[in-house]
Amino acid sequence: EHALKKSMPFFGKKVMVTAGPTYEAIDPVRFIGNHSSGKMGFALADELAKLGAEVTLIAGPTSEKSTEALTRIDVISAQDMFNACNANFEQSDVTIMCAAVADYRPKMIAEQKIKKQESDFNLALEKTVDILASMGKIKKPEQILVGFALETNDEENYAKGKLERKNLDLVVLNSLNDKGAGFKSDTNKITIFSRALERTVFDVKSKNEVAKDICNAILKLIK
Ligand code: CTP
Ligand code: CA
Repeated sequence: EHALKKSMPFFGKKVMVTAGPTYEAIDPVRFIGNHSSGKMGFALADELAKLGAEVTLIAGPTSEKSTEALTRIDVISAQDMFNACNANFEQSDVTIMCAAVADYRPKMIAEQKIKKQESDFNLALEKTVDILASMGKIKKPEQILVGFALETNDEENYAKGKLERKNLDLVVLNSLNDKGAGFKSDTNKITIFSRALERTVFDVKSKNEVAKDICNAILKLIK
């Protein structure tokens, strides 16, 4: 059995994956969130585990369940996710940030439920930490860092911009323009850009098949 494991492509590799949305609390009963299901990140984590990787999955609020043996850390907010990533990043050979992290959070979390008033209500927001960009800043040359870019327009330029700005090895462009792609869907349409800005376009596929394509792109960098 050991010999079998050793022949697996990700054998001996520690891989960290983030998945799902984050929830940013407004008061004890309300939050700001998004429609991310976590499916893509869970499919990736499962596929990597199947390929022999030692996987740490950092998951925002989701009803997804992983089918493979892996370490799962559940988090709620962007700050929680940052803390978990920061604690695990140094020992990770490969890090894939698939989570749909909230870009803004309420400046203040009300201790009690906010009551309805006669007047309109304004919520002051502040930026969350960009987890991926932070990891890009501290990454060592031998570590592989993969980000996602969710775009609706001018997709290629935005995706390449993220690759460079966040110091990534690969960026996976997820187009919301295409039918059969997106948050709740079981399928996805991706394009992968490498650091050399090589572009690989893939067809609409199930998220499990997309996970295989992403793993193959990473394996090319490892070899
Ligand atoms: N990301 C992150 N921390 C954040 C925001 C984003 O780690 N606070 C990561 C996501 O997991 C993804 C990548 O950054 O891998 C790109 O996320 P995306 O929302 O597409 O890009 P942003 O840089 O947030 O820019 P914008 O939303 O304005 O397009
Ligand atoms: Ca964002």
